[in-house]
Amino acid sequence: MMKHTKSLNANEILELIFVYLTEITSLREHDDIIIVLANMGRALTSADRCTVWIVNDDKKTIWTKVAHGMDAVELPMDSGIVGHSITTGEKIIIDDVYQDERFNSEIDKKTGYTTKSMMVIPMSDSRGKIIGAFQVINHKGESDIFEKRDMKRLMLASTYAAESIVSATLAQEIEDTQKEVVFTMGAIGESRSKETGNHVKRVAEYSKILALAYGLSEEKAELLKQASPMHDIGKIAIPDAILNKPGKFTNSEFEIMKRHAELGHSMIKNSDRPLLQAASIVAYEHHERWDGKGYPQGLKAETIHIYGRITAIADVFDALGSDRVYKKAWNDMEIFNLFKEEKGKQFDPELVDIFFENLNKIIEVREEFKDNYIEDENQKKSSKNSIKILGAHGTKAKGHGTSAFELNETNVIDAGNLLNPLEEKSANIENIWLTHSHLDHISDIAYILDNYFDIREKTLNIIGLPETIQAIKKHFFNDLIWPDFSKIALQNSDKMVVEYVELELGVENIIGKGESIEAFKTDHTVPSCGYIYKKNKRAVIITADTCSLATLIDKVNNDKEIKSMVLECSFSSDMEKLAKKSKHLTPKLLFKELKKLKRDDINLYINHLKPNYLEKIKEEISQYRGDWKPIILNDSDIINF
Ligand code: C2E
Ligand code: SIN
Ligand code: SIN
Ligand code: SIN
Ligand code: FE
Ligand code: FE
Repeated sequence: MMKHTKSLNANEILELIFVYLTEITSLREHDDIIIVLANMGRALTSADRCTVWIVNDDKKTIWTKVAHGMDAVELPMDSGIVGHSITTGEKIIIDDVYQDERFNSEIDKKTGYTTKSMMVIPMSDSRGKIIGAFQVINHKGESDIFEKRDMKRLMLASTYAAESIVSATLAQEIEDTQKEVVFTMGAIGESRSKETGNHVKRVAEYSKILALAYGLSEEKAELLKQASPMHDIGKIAIPDAILNKPGKFTNSEFEIMKRHAELGHSMIKNSDRPLLQAASIVAYEHHERWDGKGYPQGLKAETIHIYGRITAIADVFDALGSDRVYKKAWNDMEIFNLFKEEKGKQFDPELVDIFFENLNKIIEVREEFKDNYIEDENQKKSSKNSIKILGAHGTKAKGHGTSAFELNETNVIDAGNLLNPLEEKSANIENIWLTHSHLDHISDIAYILDNYFDIREKTLNIIGLPETIQAIKKHFFNDLIWPDFSKIALQNSDKMVVEYVELELGVENIIGKGESIEAFKTDHTVPSCGYIYKKNKRAVIITADTCSLATLIDKVNNDKEIKSMVLECSFSSDMEKLAKKSKHLTPKLLFKELKKLKRDDINLYINHLKPNYLEKIKEEISQYRGDWKPIILNDSDIINF
């Protein structure tokens, strides 16, 4: 095997994969395959050692199936760094294990070997159940630590090993698991790290369905199924900075990316295996267009190989329906419209018809091979970055609540709809951050105090601009419209039920560990503000009612930690006069304002639609949205940011 002391470049990686692939395909025993995969994991990550750990569910232990430089070991399942990875599902990179309290130095003591850097990734079956872990130790070469990009490479080896192990348990044909290497090779072209490789499996299945329905033989359809996952193998030679760019490409970046088709082709065209022959065609021709305007060759209509025409449809269908680093997933209607629109332009018209005729089968496959985001689930548990929309609309109507956002247990922005969604949990609220004094943003303060007065243990801070506080004191909680709770004491304390707090614009207020909220000026008929809610260096920005986005755009352009924005859109565009008078936005005004935004890596959510004009406003949003993919909020939606 090759020895490496430097970071590998793309061609070296590919070469390595092929060396191991050739070796693997000649093996017949699962244990031998896993040994080769451990070698491959070690080589791909420039590690000194690689260990494959397997979970024994009955004994609640983990044991070393393959280990470089040591005898077999069995440990309790929850012990050490590997145990931590297996029980939590976390991928772990550690620069110096002796600085990590989870590290168990017993093995080092026994073997006399000194472990320093380590990377562990859990290994799961296709349902996401964790069955073991791949561990590499001591990065060699220029740097002695592992980096993120090593993770993807180790995953290549581990995904395939997982397949071998699972199918060994099921006593399936080894042949089957060998095909899996093709999937994992395809997966290396993927720009997303959090996915378990199901994307390429879906593309494979869609391709076979389309091939059979088009009239290709079972053999050819099966060959395409195995080859199509490799369509993006050439992406391995595209620099990470371009591949993972979290936003739209410039023209020159796209020109570099386009080379993946030709690169993939030339990487595998010299093999005489039928499978790799087919794969090289797919890699070469999957971005050609029926009308001749595709790349790299600009082939037209039937001069494009049928494998290329089929994979083009399978690939784009799946790409559009998935989140990418540069875009959100589209919904089905948008996807189907694109296929109708591009029939005979981007795509073979006959294949588009076949696609729609076989839609049920295709959707079934999509369900069967749904992405399971193991990493995400765990991230969610430890540090969930989300807010809940308690009310999403611009006025109260049957089934429609008005503005309110739950940030965490004790903090909300606005109080248009608290009582129904929170019930007695509303007694835990300690801070209400108001955007302005309009009724649809403050009304439920009255009712949550009234209903849960007796179980409330802490003062409720009503926080807003000085003018907002004045308005509420004078016109709402004034002992005429509703009781003045700032003069009433809590049941079990001498503190008052309500305290008013005047807000300062541009000041970051800490409201929890790593959590803060900051107000910025907006433009409405009464003094008003929006908020930036930040958690662990990621933020969502909320305007509330406004007819200008100038301050918001300034904030978003200058603060890259802002990942999502919630903007209002109250009226339809034919009501522009009323919108301007009441200082609100319409779809036309909203998207015109957004032209000044210099970022395209931000998620857009829209709220505060007036329920009466809901359908009209939604229609206009799709008319004016341009390249934006806005999500229109409903009551009880959750925004992850
Ligand atoms: P991919 O993300 O797997 O997308 C594959 C193909 O699906 C695209 O090929 C395109 O035909 C279609 N597709 C995906 N998303 C969209 C979309 O939002 N709108 C439309 N109309 N079509 C879409 P394409 O364009 O040749 O791109 C090839 C690959 O280049 C993409 O594979 C992706 O990896 C990368 N890419 C393309 N544009 C961008 C970008 O703006 N930013 C980043 N970071 N990557 C991009
Ligand atoms: C991949 O990410 O491996 C393929 C993406 C695609 O072209 O659909
Ligand atoms: C509001 O600003 O949301 C209430 C008044 C209006 O709809 O114009
Ligand atoms: C987007 O698609 O994320 C928005 C891009 C833009 O219009 O700037
Ligand atoms: Fe591609
Ligand atoms: Fe308002």
